[in-house]
Amino acid sequence: MSFVNYDQDGAVAVITINREKALNALNSQVLDDLDTTLNNVDTDVVRCLIITGAGPKSFVAGADIGEMSALTKEEAEFFGRKGNAVFRKIETFPIPVIAAVNGFALGGGCELSMACDIRIAADNALFGQPEVGLGITPGFGGTQRLARLIPVGLAKQMVYATTNIDANQAKACGLVNDVYPQEELMPAAKKLAGKIAKNAPIAVRHCKQAINEGLDLNMDKAIDLEAKLFGGCFESGDQKEGMDAFLNKRKHEPFQNK
Ligand code: CAA
Repeated sequence: MSFVNYDQDGAVAVITINREKALNALNSQVLDDLDTTLNNVDTDVVRCLIITGAGPKSFVAGADIGEMSALTKEEAEFFGRKGNAVFRKIETFPIPVIAAVNGFALGGGCELSMACDIRIAADNALFGQPEVGLGITPGFGGTQRLARLIPVGLAKQMVYATTNIDANQAKACGLVNDVYPQEELMPAAKKLAGKIAKNAPIAVRHCKQAINEGLDLNMDKAIDLEAKLFGGCFESGDQKEGMDAFLNKRKHEPFQNK
């Protein structure tokens, strides 16, 4: 039995972390299942992914504290690297990934959401990094991504003082783009994913690569990277169709991903 469900509907697919009785906490098996699920996404067809948690209460309540409690230093480092490898796979996944945060996003849950390109949240979402209260640091990227996404002082407060922030506070500091009543979250995620999926897939992929890799470069190198990726779009039929449609004042045909 897998702890991860995968539902594909045309160009949009939903990954659901499904370990509801433990509030979708990430143990080694959940991480392995998530990794396998990602490896099996048909990115020739799927153009946008959504990640959410099973049930009404929790996105992901963190890494599994029971499993971590007995780890040695070496085993803990291995576990941290394992989670980081899966989350980095999401961050560098060729297509955009939306986190639909439906409740607790604590520790590894907040970290999972931050590996995604875009976060939207239900009004019951709660974000936090409670690790120092357990005697550990965040281990799946929390010390790195949070301070890159929100003001560094707020990130440090969340990490040092274990201050949680609710959905509206997360929106106010830019951690999430929008907040919805619980029942409207998945429809909103699917609507946004559908909108992304309708745009030229090669261009969208190039945008993800340009934004993510460019953030780690100085501006000269970053705009050079953009120039290459911009140029690369001109080998695609979708560029020809998109521009021809504009110039001939017609609606473009569905983009072909080539
Ligand atoms: N690991 C393992 N089990 C967890 C869990 C976690 N992170 N979070 C919740 N659960 C389990 C609980 O143990 C409980 O199981 P039982 O029914 O078998 O007792 C079940 O989920 C339901 O949880 P609660 O009864 O505690 O539910 P609640 O509504 O009263 O509280 C909560 C919800 C505030 C999220 C609380 O469960 C909680 O504080 N969970 C831990 C959150 C946390 O500290 N996360 C960070 C983990 S460390 C980490 O993530 C490190 C890293 O960066 C890699």
